[in-house]
Amino acid sequence: MSEERLRRVRDRVRSFPDFPEPGVLFRDISPLLKDPVAFGALIDLLEDHVRASFPQIDFIAGLDSRGFLIGPPLAQRLGIGFVPVRKKGKLPGPTESVTYNLEYGKAELEIQSDAVEPGQKVVIVDDLLATGGTMRAACELLRRLEAEILECLVVIELKALKGSEKLSSIPFHALLQYD
Ligand code: PRP
Ligand code: ADE
Repeated sequence: MSEERLRRVRDRVRSFPDFPEPGVLFRDISPLLKDPVAFGALIDLLEDHVRASFPQIDFIAGLDSRGFLIGPPLAQRLGIGFVPVRKKGKLPGPTESVTYNLEYGKAELEIQSDAVEPGQKVVIVDDLLATGGTMRAACELLRRLEAEILECLVVIELKALKGSEKLSSIPFHALLQYD
């Protein structure tokens, strides 16, 4: 059953060489979003994983922007709230911010200072882990708010870039892996 769901998800990820710049093989989840059966299978798999792993969880945090496509439907299924981690300059009020390196460029992430209370349990969700810089930056923000990070959870891991090593001791899980 879960193999069938994984196959449906994998079948809806397509690859574009040299996007957005030469040397990058871009993994595109647009077909996954377009297919309600495959997208439903994705959210089912993520829900099953989180329920089985973490009996207690307060929030799903999602990363700007593709993590916003996956985090809110997952949080709804789990009956919990969603917290956005955004690119610089998008969130009003007091924020924490951190600069990080991308597979293609540099960026800055922010979270609202009152997004979570100290000790609240959070799973951080994104579509993809490449170099791990984005996820590590998000972990740093949540650490500053003294959240308990239960796990970093992604749909796709690009194994060759060894991004999970950047997360050191924080638990990490990917549904699909590509070399
Ligand atoms: C992509 C992807 C991850 C990040 C992974 O986002 O959605 O968030 O890159 O790369 P890393 O592991 O090397 O940090 P991107 O910054 O391209 O923004 P987008 O989601 O708005 O397209
Ligand atoms: N974000 C960073 N690297 C990526 C890749 N190769 N495909 C899709 N999104 C990405």
